[in-house]
Amino acid sequence: MSVAISNHPASNGAGRSVVKTVRGMAASDGAGVRLSRVIGQPALPDLDPFLMLDEFRSDDAKDYIAGFPDHPHRGFETVTYMLAGRMRHGDNQGNTGLLRAGSAQWMTAGRGIVHSEIPEQENGLMWGFQLWVNLPARLKMTAPRYQDIEPEAIPTVALGNGATVRVVAGRVGDTSGPVSGVVTEPIYLDFALSAGGEISQALPSSHNAFLYVYDGAARVGSSRLERGTLGVLGPGERVEVAAEADKPARFILVAGKPIGEPVVKYGPFVMNTESEIRQAITDFRAGRF
Ligand code: CO
Repeated sequence: MSVAISNHPASNGAGRSVVKTVRGMAASDGAGVRLSRVIGQPALPDLDPFLMLDEFRSDDAKDYIAGFPDHPHRGFETVTYMLAGRMRHGDNQGNTGLLRAGSAQWMTAGRGIVHSEIPEQENGLMWGFQLWVNLPARLKMTAPRYQDIEPEAIPTVALGNGATVRVVAGRVGDTSGPVSGVVTEPIYLDFALSAGGEISQALPSSHNAFLYVYDGAARVGSSRLERGTLGVLGPGERVEVAAEADKPARFILVAGKPIGEPVVKYGPFVMNTESEIRQAITDFRAGRF
């Protein structure tokens, strides 16, 4: 007996392909943390609703030890996802937390916070990502909110073929990630594929999406993405990603609903207009964050 395979788009879904690839650019931020800026650089200034993606990865303490001392944010969300190492987080409202390997922090800066992120280790590997996610005009001045997610709270789903995925935000099959109540309905998935493995992941066609390969190399259709490469995904309802035959691959797959509003960025402030930026600077200097 044979099983009919339907080619109808409604049942199979149109696969997304890579429409642009971007390599990270060496940058320095905070008090001299060396990192790779992937979104938020000339080759990819933003990808609505995503404003920035940094990968920090070093086993040389002088690349990270000074961390990110007190600095403000207004008008968007910062998302930290740690692969290795420990970072102490604190803010001017008295909130504090430890970001350790496998944890995530989804921070809605909203109308403003002043915070710091300082390594809690003097040597060893520090590795992770920071993603900036925009807020629409109606939520830019919302109250700050933290979702500090311990490693154990992030479900891991086995996909067969030795592939696994950690679900930080969004859904894989019946499993939902712990991040909730975010207006852009984000998907943030961390995949590990064995050599020769492949996955097929549904993505809402309403969302902009990218994948970023941080270990090995991955293929999406005819595109091959090396470690340190981001692939912007075109339209469709799902994406199929394969590791190479002889080595495993790890990547994050991230998607969000675009906001479609003007973006005016000034350092750690992201608003809709120049005058809102001037107001943010005034408020910050007056200690109103
Ligand atoms: Co920050």
